[in-house]
Amino acid sequence: MCGIMGYVGPRPASPIILQGLKRLEYRGYDSAGVAVADDGVIEMRKAAGKLERLADLLDESAPSGRLGIGHTRWATHGAPTDENAHPHADPEQAFAIVHNGIIENFFELKAELTAAGRTFASETDTEVLVHLIADEYDGDLAEAVRRAVGRATGAYALVAMTVHEPDTLVAVRMISPLVIGFGDGETFLASGIPALLDHTREVLVMEDGEMVTITPGEVRMEKLDGTPVERESFEVDWDVEQAEKGGYPHFMLKEIFEQPRVIADSLLGRLDGTDVTLEDVTWDEEFERSLEKIWITACGTAFHAGLAGKEMFEGLLRVPTEAVYAHELRYRDPIVGPNSMTLAISQSGETADTLAGARLLHERGSRLVAITNVVGSALTHYSDDVVYTRAGLEISVASTKAYTAMLIAQYLLALRIGQSRGVLDTAMAMDVARALEALPGQVESLLKREEGIDEMARYLGAQLAEKDDIYFIGRGLDYAVATEGSLKLKEISYLHSEAMPAGELKHGTLALITEGTPVIVVNTQQHVYDKTVSALQEVKARGASVIAVAYDDDTEIEHYTDHVLRIPRTMDLLSPALSIVPLQLLAYHVADTRGLEIDQPRNLAKSVTVE
Ligand code: AGP
Repeated sequence: MCGIMGYVGPRPASPIILQGLKRLEYRGYDSAGVAVADDGVIEMRKAAGKLERLADLLDESAPSGRLGIGHTRWATHGAPTDENAHPHADPEQAFAIVHNGIIENFFELKAELTAAGRTFASETDTEVLVHLIADEYDGDLAEAVRRAVGRATGAYALVAMTVHEPDTLVAVRMISPLVIGFGDGETFLASGIPALLDHTREVLVMEDGEMVTITPGEVRMEKLDGTPVERESFEVDWDVEQAEKGGYPHFMLKEIFEQPRVIADSLLGRLDGTDVTLEDVTWDEEFERSLEKIWITACGTAFHAGLAGKEMFEGLLRVPTEAVYAHELRYRDPIVGPNSMTLAISQSGETADTLAGARLLHERGSRLVAITNVVGSALTHYSDDVVYTRAGLEISVASTKAYTAMLIAQYLLALRIGQSRGVLDTAMAMDVARALEALPGQVESLLKREEGIDEMARYLGAQLAEKDDIYFIGRGLDYAVATEGSLKLKEISYLHSEAMPAGELKHGTLALITEGTPVIVVNTQQHVYDKTVSALQEVKARGASVIAVAYDDDTEIEHYTDHVLRIPRTMDLLSPALSIVPLQLLAYHVADTRGLEIDQPRNLAKSVTVE
């Protein structure tokens, strides 16, 4: 998730673009840049790091042209360096583009262009697009962009410019957002409405497959196939803060609702039939075949994603898998045998405990694989391989979309390794792949369904907000989800909650269950369904008030529970990606009912870089 901005008008472009990028920093901020058409050349300024570094560069010398593009980056391909910062230009610097999204067939395109003699200055997927546009150009930028994107697949919003047409911007939207702002004799393009609000409130949201050509006197919209598009602009009445949150009251809620897109992005270009391609994974099939042990180490939410991974890897791959809190691991004396792999999972890639735990296993000979959301983060520096989670910038301290993306990364690994080891036959691999592909739509429908999972969670959240102690139970993968549901609740609602395997209740915690004690059960795993129902009956008999998370077509669960949060049916293996959603919403609404500071809970930080 990156922020892009474009400007055509009578004023100097650089300060307007910089101001817009500041408003888009919520979308990512690991590097930034601008390109401005200035006296027959494209002048670029780019800098790794926060936007202030670009501002300093522009303070020293800002190009003075009146047409330009800018970008604030959240890296997906290539570390956050000056070279990888956008805009990207062709070697002659005759064309420049900014891009938000992922070019799915970037490997093939890059190989093709390299074979044709093109050289690349960055590791980004974006750079292939600017080469394609330069290749296709024969005097009409819009036509060149149209032909270039016709060769690319994936998700993108891009804005292109060329020295040959110094008063023209061409932009295309395919999945990633792009908005046009209409000012007084000037036109703006941006990834989000916040970037426009300092200049105009008249906006038009571009739709997938649409293209716009902007010159000082004209804004021409059309579909990629050339069909003209006529759509009215509208007036925005949000303030900037509301706009940054996309109209949601908190980033946490916005990020929960982003999960369908995050899952889709996480799969983009990586799953083809049952084939899994992971860009920064370098081991060979022999390593996968000879794997004898998987370690998983992480903290907090990332650890809970790893707990689900442990269940899934052992069940699917039949490889012994151990999930260890990194802060425990770092002071243990782990026995690391041959042929092991360590999955170090961290949204930030900077968590001190996770770095230490991962290093210890690496030093003892385990192949280190980072699963992280931050390209170029500390963890990636000494990992042998990386699987990036593509969740985009996560602002809320309470992690939601990054958790889901961590699950998807592990599913992809399991699907790939399982096939190499021959433990997943074609039919089973196909079932997993199809179920994965269905997930974005299922999460989307879960969040949108008419009876309203969010409404239900709000209603139940208001009731739970009155309670002191809340228990979460489940078995196997459902237990893994219960741990995350419980953490979400406690970290933002400040209520006591704990999660335990359903079978553990009777060994002590049952003593705490009295009339009205809330117990939240996740029950999606068919092989232990009845066993979990037994645990439910035990708590019900002691007066517990039970909320279940269960499949839509589970008609039995309501006999043992007070309320059911329904999710679409999927393979049991994949249910965590769905069953966590109502629990995230429940936690959110409990905290909201209690009037708490949801995005920045007390005593907590987004990444814990100290021990
Ligand atoms: C979860 O909501 C918390 N923010 C926290 O548990 C977090 O997951 C943990 O600190 C690990 O962070 P990381 O993924 O950046 O390593």
